[in-house]
Amino acid sequence: MATIFCTATSLDGYIADDRESLSWLFTTESDAPESAPESAPELPRLHFSRFFAGVGAIVCGYNTFDWVRRELTASGDPFVWPHEQPTWVVTHRDPDPTPGVTFTSSPIADLQSELVNAADGKDVWIVGGGDLAGQFADLGLLDQVWIHQCPVTLGAGRPLLPRRLRLHRRDVETDGQFTAMLFDVVGPEPRTDS
Ligand SMILES: NC(=O)c1ccc[n+]([C@@H]2O[C@H](COP(=O)([O-])OP(=O)(O)OC[C@H]3O[C@@H](n4cnc5c(N)ncnc54)[C@H](OP(=O)(O)O)[C@@H]3O)[C@@H](O)[C@H]2O)c1
Repeated sequence: MATIFCTATSLDGYIADDRESLSWLFTTESDAPESAPESAPELPRLHFSRFFAGVGAIVCGYNTFDWVRRELTASGDPFVWPHEQPTWVVTHRDPDPTPGVTFTSSPIADLQSELVNAADGKDVWIVGGGDLAGQFADLGLLDQVWIHQCPVTLGAGRPLLPRRLRLHRRDVETDGQFTAMLFDVVGPEPRTDS
């Protein structure tokens, strides 16, 4: 079981552009067959489907939740949270109740205990944003970073992981125009004068 920040990112380290759009992500080509199950041998090792199959609990920030809600209701459909795994959304607001989602402003350490219990031996997925992943890292609670990097620069937007952290690359793989990378988090990157 691990706590993993898994996200797509631009080459210059943004997970959403300055209008909160992900169009740059959805137009990036993958070689993987769209309908392949996560166990299909032709699926890349670091494909999102393989990651997702190991996820037992989910956490994200309010803006990410709200982006998903806006996307899924844009055509007038009622909103249903799209994941079966129990999900926590960190926020200081009091949103309308959503089945499968717990809104919380609990301290991150307490939240992590809830997530690990709910995941029941599987992984905890930090969906984003980057600062939320950083809040887990600040407490030494972020184990891995799993990114799908797109060959695009955005110049501005929502940052990937706004912290000084040293990572250790475990695996790297290409999939179409994506570069997938899996890292272990080593810890804070010290500052030196030179
Ligand atoms: N490329 C990808 O795969 C990917 C992945 C994830 C997200 N995204 C995109 O990134 C954007 C959102 O990122 P974001 O950086 O804005 O961050 P976010 O983490 O989604 O949302 C930040 C908000 O969460 C709440 N929050 C954060 N930490 C909290 C805490 N400890 N306790 C209580 N509330 C807390 C605060 O909202 P309030 O205080 O206002 O409630 C804060 O303003 C969206 O556009 C989303 O679509 C992209």
